[in-house]
Amino acid sequence: MEIAFAPVRPDADTLVFAVPKGGFDALPISAAATLAAGAAAARFTGEAGGSFESFAEEGGKVLRIVLVGTGGGSETDFERAGAALTARLLTSGASHAAVEFFGGASGDKAAHFALGALLRGWRIDTYRTRQPEKAKPTLTKLSIVADGADAEWQRLSAIADGVAFARELVSEPANILYPESFVERCRHLEQLGVKISVLDKAAMAELGMGALLGVAQGSVREPRLLAMEWDGTNGAGGKPVVFVGKGVTFDTGGISLKPGAGMEDMKWDMGGAGAVAGAMKALAGRKAKARVVGICGLVENMPDGNAQRPGDIVTSMSGQTIEVINTDAEGRLVLCDVITWAQKTYAPEVIIDLATLTGAMIVALGDQYAGLFANDEGLAEDLIAAGKVAGDQLWRFPLGDAYNKLIDSPIADMKNMGARYAGSITAAQFIKRFVDDGVKWAHLDIAGMVWADKPGATWDKGATGYGVRLIDQLVADKYEG
Ligand code: BES
Ligand code: MN
Ligand code: ZN
Repeated sequence: MEIAFAPVRPDADTLVFAVPKGGFDALPISAAATLAAGAAAARFTGEAGGSFESFAEEGGKVLRIVLVGTGGGSETDFERAGAALTARLLTSGASHAAVEFFGGASGDKAAHFALGALLRGWRIDTYRTRQPEKAKPTLTKLSIVADGADAEWQRLSAIADGVAFARELVSEPANILYPESFVERCRHLEQLGVKISVLDKAAMAELGMGALLGVAQGSVREPRLLAMEWDGTNGAGGKPVVFVGKGVTFDTGGISLKPGAGMEDMKWDMGGAGAVAGAMKALAGRKAKARVVGICGLVENMPDGNAQRPGDIVTSMSGQTIEVINTDAEGRLVLCDVITWAQKTYAPEVIIDLATLTGAMIVALGDQYAGLFANDEGLAEDLIAAGKVAGDQLWRFPLGDAYNKLIDSPIADMKNMGARYAGSITAAQFIKRFVDDGVKWAHLDIAGMVWADKPGATWDKGATGYGVRLIDQLVADKYEG
């Protein structure tokens, strides 16, 4: 879908008026009175995300007229209004919609409207070859009447590109997207100035990444470690902030096999890696003035004659040994080696990992917040604040010695799962054992956020792109200039 900002309303088949909650008595159109009465009868009041649709004669033509609510007028409200519009029009038959803001809107607000429209309009049609005509998208262009939107739109369109990329990665099935092809999908980021380096299986074996390799050994797909570096500081650089993503391109559970029902969901067990890759695209796309490294640990977790067994003991790159009680607790085994490598390679002050790590997190928080674990108060607060602005919400959980003890092993340094309770916390404690002293670290368990069963504010059902805007916002708030 093309987005254009125009100084005056162009000819279009659909006229859209974005109106605030409460008052929109005199729309600049001849059928204003009829529309106002119709909207009132349909109980449309201008609430954010609400909409009303009708047809009216204007300039001798019958046009589709849509009213969308911008509610109280916040940037988020404008995003929701834009999203409501594309949700309504995407497959409606309308092709070109011209949007006017009743009472005017700042360029920034207009840009947020466009962002919401673009995000809600995203879909993946790659694999549909027999789509009924009526189900095909028709909306190809949005012309938005506003001045001064360009600067903010440059930033927000980069974010939209990053979110779209994360959603694409998350949506792709595991026969198409596996460690090597994930890396190839990220190659285009080099054109934006992102430096890409990749470790293959031999390189990881050389480094002693026994935990990550143990997960990968049951799959015919070779693992990869993908590092993407963006430096927008003109070389002033300094230590980078590092984001680490869990990239299990498919999680069968391994020998501790998952039940069949719903297992297809485990194609999105790379949602952390998808968010990190999407965020790198957003940051490079808007030329963020910061040095950021995004690292994805990419493996497939399969049962096989060569798969690791429950009870196996592996040695991680850190030298610590791990008794693998359950091969389905594989995400932490991947993350621990990636985090060790990140610390050795980049000496960062801050590491933030994102992972679809535990089903227990979904039990605790559902699909409203991701779980946040951190060893630093300031970092936790910054993340929560960024999440509020970005709309990617976080809720903090505790860490502590009593939880940490639950993963002591009678035969190795630790085991890869605790007892029945507090599963998300013991998973976080496991990762914490690999974080060097002095490094500020946060772990985001995004298991409940990556995939939506029903449409949300700015996404359809399916991949949400959770985490991209959060990372981008944190970098903007704390690590730029
Ligand atoms: N990828 C899963 C967690 C998950 C489950 C994410 C459902 C999204 C939806 C993870 O690898 C896993 O299997 N975790 C286990 C850990 C347990 C064996 C200690 C879990 O949560 O059951
Ligand atoms: Mn698992
Ligand atoms: Zn997993």
